[in-house]
Amino acid sequence: MLELDLTAELDRQMSVCNACRYCEGFCAVFGAAQLHTAIGTGDVAYLANLCHDCRMCFDACMFAPPHEFAINVPAVMAAGRVETYERYGRPSLPARMIRNPRGVAIAAVLGGTAIVALAIAASAGAAAFWTPQSGPGAFYRVLPYAAMIVPALGLAAYGAVCVALGARDYARDIGAGSRFVSLSSLRTALREALALTYLKGGGAGCYDAHRSSGSRRAFHGLVFWGFLADLAATVSAALEQEFLHLLPPYPLWSVPVVLGTGGGIALAVGVAGLVAVKRRSDNRPTEPHMIALDYTFLGLLETVALTGLALLAFRSTAAMGALLAVHLGAVAGLFITAPYGKFVHFVYRFIALVKNAHEQGHIAA
Ligand code: HEM
Ligand code: SF4
Ligand code: SF4
Repeated sequence: MLELDLTAELDRQMSVCNACRYCEGFCAVFGAAQLHTAIGTGDVAYLANLCHDCRMCFDACMFAPPHEFAINVPAVMAAGRVETYERYGRPSLPARMIRNPRGVAIAAVLGGTAIVALAIAASAGAAAFWTPQSGPGAFYRVLPYAAMIVPALGLAAYGAVCVALGARDYARDIGAGSRFVSLSSLRTALREALALTYLKGGGAGCYDAHRSSGSRRAFHGLVFWGFLADLAATVSAALEQEFLHLLPPYPLWSVPVVLGTGGGIALAVGVAGLVAVKRRSDNRPTEPHMIALDYTFLGLLETVALTGLALLAFRSTAAMGALLAVHLGAVAGLFITAPYGKFVHFVYRFIALVKNAHEQGHIAA
């Protein structure tokens, strides 16, 4: 949808909703829309990311197609989120990757795997791909520590700077010159983000083929906490190595392995569940581009989780070298595409929640 069309279309739909107000109890969007009655570009970016896509307002709407008003709030919000990801992707040239997310993700994972495989062959020789390794430092005999950590930190730093620049501009645009960050708005937003309050459809759940289902929120919880556990596993492994001078592979009952295994399983199950929900869902209240972004991100997360679990299971066999290349390649693919895909949704969503908490706090005061 063109930007002007999108702004005009959201303006049209919200003016019907502001008159109707039937869906007010479902989420924060309808209350916020009453404070933004003349929709501009910043309002599209704000409301689109405040919408949690529970789709209950589509299921409930008496003006949804085939009614001539053709009200479909979740679809226009999904189009607004795709536009946000592209508009605030930094630098803007690679942000165009968003238009072909699948192709870019596949190229990033395959390219990352090929580069890691070449680095392994260059540092340990081709035999590293069929010679089993065991004991402390086994991974580093295949690929030196510096060759793992330096590119990983470089990619993470690049992604963090890009996302921070986009987030700053997004906050400026949706704030329209006013400040909305305070301790209390941050606290409220954090609580709502962790509970995914607005994915509850006002309490009944999301609209998918099962109507009023809580499964999307539950699977998202597994993905969210699984991802954080995997990050914590990586940090704890670095701390063990740095301060206790213990080299990986770590025992099965060590902190990094327990966190990594639990996180990997939660991530794998959560992603599979989200894919199952998506496959059975009605596609009318969404947008094809968003579906492509969702599946790409889900595919990347699943590849990272499954290759990580496989590496753990076969780390002392001859398959370790190849699995290490594939797993690090998948992680590289996730990091390279992170600033330009669905991964960034949590940043814009969180900022939108902070602004909403600020506005609602002012009304209550
Ligand atoms: C502030 C934290 C977060 C919030 C508020 C949040 C919120 C949401 C919401 C509302 C959705 C459904 C709407 C949509 O598809 O955009 C969603 C989807 C998704 N989120 Fe998050 N999220 C957060 C963090 C994360 C993290 C850290 C991950 C994992 C790395 C993650 C993974 C996903 C995935 C895979 C989907 C797609 C689900 C689907 O396609 O059905 N989220 N998130
Ligand atoms: S989505 Fe439909 S039912 Fe809900 S407030 Fe808007 S017009 Fe009314
Ligand atoms: S899809 Fe759900 S979160 Fe989005 S506007 Fe409709 S009711 Fe609110």
